[in-house]
Amino acid sequence: MNRRKFISSTALAAAAPLVLTHFNVFGSNAPSNKLNLALIGTWGRGEAHFDSLATQNVAALCDVNEEHLAFGLKKFPGAKTYVDWRKLLDDHKSLGLDGIVICTADHTHAFITNWAMNRGLHVYCEKPLANTVEEARRVRANYLSKKHKLATQVGMQRHAFPNFNRVRELIHDGVIGELSAAYAWGNRQLRKPGYLPAEGEPPAGLHYDLWLGPAPFHPYNPEYFSGGPGANCLQWNMYWDFGNGQVGDMGSHTMDLVWNAVDAGLPTSAEATGEEFNPDVSPVTLETHFEHPANHWRGPLRVSWYQGGALPNTPKEYVDLKKIGHGAMFKGTKGFIVADFETRIILPVGNEADLTYYKPRPKQEVLPNLGHFQKEWFDACKGSLKTSCDFDYSGKMIEQMLLGLVAYRAGKKIEYDGAAGRVTNAPEANALLSRHYREGWTLNG
Ligand SMILES: NC(=O)c1ccc[n+]([C@@H]2O[C@H](COP(=O)([O-])OP(=O)(O)OC[C@H]3O[C@@H](n4cnc5c(N)ncnc54)[C@H](O)[C@@H]3O)[C@@H](O)[C@H]2O)c1
Repeated sequence: MNRRKFISSTALAAAAPLVLTHFNVFGSNAPSNKLNLALIGTWGRGEAHFDSLATQNVAALCDVNEEHLAFGLKKFPGAKTYVDWRKLLDDHKSLGLDGIVICTADHTHAFITNWAMNRGLHVYCEKPLANTVEEARRVRANYLSKKHKLATQVGMQRHAFPNFNRVRELIHDGVIGELSAAYAWGNRQLRKPGYLPAEGEPPAGLHYDLWLGPAPFHPYNPEYFSGGPGANCLQWNMYWDFGNGQVGDMGSHTMDLVWNAVDAGLPTSAEATGEEFNPDVSPVTLETHFEHPANHWRGPLRVSWYQGGALPNTPKEYVDLKKIGHGAMFKGTKGFIVADFETRIILPVGNEADLTYYKPRPKQEVLPNLGHFQKEWFDACKGSLKTSCDFDYSGKMIEQMLLGLVAYRAGKKIEYDGAAGRVTNAPEANALLSRHYREGWTLNG
């Protein structure tokens, strides 16, 4: 008996004076209090979720690669298997699903996410949440309309490192004075000339057409699938139709270190410089800058993202930012904080920077550790609905990042109306906020 049948039969039981002798074994309402979940993408990043998923009930698995599906089935032998996530979602009631975990290629994230939320399912989606500004906005709006009943989380698991909140506290408690700028960067460089040429046939068991999904057609080439487990995304994520390169990849993690501290909404402008535009492949070297309005605790803020070797200027030559592969820096009126994911340094600058204005918070006001990142979502699905990287927080962050690519492609500074989701000074740039999908694929189905 699945959970929904259980609920309707308990309603009947309540109506009639019957003694209830059967109960559901799994499901968030069941005595075991385990969630009924589906994992979509059962190898690579999917495997990184196996152990935490094993604390719940995995009712279904889906992968476009049947070998990878078999790999998942070894871990979760009781699960029903699918190669097409749409079929799995069709069956969500009979499976009694509470939620899904999405570990597929980036170009499918916003699709699966919307479809799942539209069926009342909680969603954990690997980063990046979206591939276009429009996708980010549609997912966020969809979530906001259902946030009183759905728990969502984007796989930005470094967010659970205590350093994220230590950086936030230092800034909020005034160690660098008034915050005026924040920077994040990543040094990963994966250069490809263009989409790969047709080569061979997809192996038996790989449903290549389903892998392409909503993306425009590109011929099969084994190189898209030649990466090791958990790193295969680096074989396809730089191609525009499949991903956004480092903007969505490490950008999702590293901008989170900034975003967690600065309480930003959507930017009012974006500008970018980078290498020459390639219609097939997203840029390796890029820097993007965003203006954010003041909020209740700080003035206007400039937020910047650098990748592929581009870096902000160091505040002092003896601080070599190149030594931090993926890092963040915060500039205030009295100095800087330089951080990587797990550590931070404070650099007071100027004769006035005597730190007398800085009052460390008392121990009892130190922000609590988040704990286990996946478990935070499980607990949210079971009732709290509270996660640290929900689709509102993460949706706005990736919308900002993707807007940087719009400015890069537009070749000029763009002014952005975040409420309307429109570029106001360059109408031609509005066409770059969304993409065309293959016929038959609906973003919000
Ligand atoms: N949070 C992190 O630290 C982290 C680390 C690595 C990857 N990721 C993210 O995880 C995702 C997967 O990355 P990966 O390196 O495992 O990639 P991958 O190419 O190995 O794909 C993972 C699995 O998903 C399957 N898959 C792909 N498209 C599918 C679809 N439409 N339906 C069902 N199954 C599908 C693949 O066959 C594969 O088994 C990416 O979005 C990546 O950004 C996150």
